[in-house]
Amino acid sequence: MIISLCDDPQDVADLAAQRVADLLHDQPRAVLGLPTGRTPILMYDELAERHAAGEIDFSQVQTFNLDEFVGIGLDHEGSYRAYMQRYLFGRVNLPTGQGHVLDGLAADADVECARFEERIAAAGGLDLQILGLGANGHIGFNEPADGLMARTHTVALLDASRHSNAGFFNGDVDQVPTHAMTMGMGTILKARRILLLVTGDEKAATVAAMLRGPITTHLPASFLQLHPEVELICDGAAASQIR
Ligand code: GLP
Repeated sequence: MIISLCDDPQDVADLAAQRVADLLHDQPRAVLGLPTGRTPILMYDELAERHAAGEIDFSQVQTFNLDEFVGIGLDHEGSYRAYMQRYLFGRVNLPTGQGHVLDGLAADADVECARFEERIAAAGGLDLQILGLGANGHIGFNEPADGLMARTHTVALLDASRHSNAGFFNGDVDQVPTHAMTMGMGTILKARRILLLVTGDEKAATVAAMLRGPITTHLPASFLQLHPEVELICDGAAASQIR
C-alpha cells in the first residue's frame, strides 16, 4: 500500500481530487466508486470547484456509490442519494442515470443488490474506488463480523456505525436506519485502483492495525492489504500510530 501523508484534511482532499482529475483526463469514460461520510466532503467541494473552473468533465463518467440506508430515498436528507446530490451530482455535469446509488426504497433489497452488481459489470467494472474508513474498521457498511459477504448485500448496522452517522440525522441516533445495503469486500477489491481517505486521530489506531495487523473479518479494512494498487491518503493525525 502506498501511503501519501498530507498536512491536513484540505491537503487530503486536494490530492484525492487531483487523482480523480488525472484519471478523468486520461480516461474520460472512467467508472468511479464513491464514498459518503464526513471525510470526502472536502474532496467533493474541490471536484465541484475544478468542474466550475472547466478543469473536470463528468459527462462520460459513471459512478457507483458504496452503500445506502434501507428504507429512505432522495427525499430524506440523511440518505446517501441525497448526500450525493448535495455534494457532487448537483454541482457537476454528470448526466442523470450515470450516478448509480443503491435504491434504499427498493421493494426487494436482495434483487436491488444483485442488479447493482450487474450494472457495475455492464459498465466494465470500477476503475477507481474511493473509500473512507469507519472508526471501527468498516469499509462501506462491511461491518466487523465473524464472516463477510463478498458481493453487494443487505447488512444490519452496528450501534457504533449508527452513532457515527447520527450527524446526518439531526444528531439523533434513533433516526438512523437499522439496515443498509453495501458493496461487499469482493466488489471493492475487484476495482482496478483504490484510494482510501482517512483524517483525524480517532482513526489512528484503526489505520495502524489495518496496515500491519492480520487480515481479519473483524477489521474489514485489513482486506485492503490484499489489493495490489491501494493508496492511503491521510493526514498526520490519522497516521500518528503507524510505526
Ligand atoms: C459511513 C459510511 C462509510 C464511511 C464511514 C466513515 O458509515 N458507510 O462508507 O467511509 O462511515 O465516515 P466518516 O468519514 O464520517 O468518518
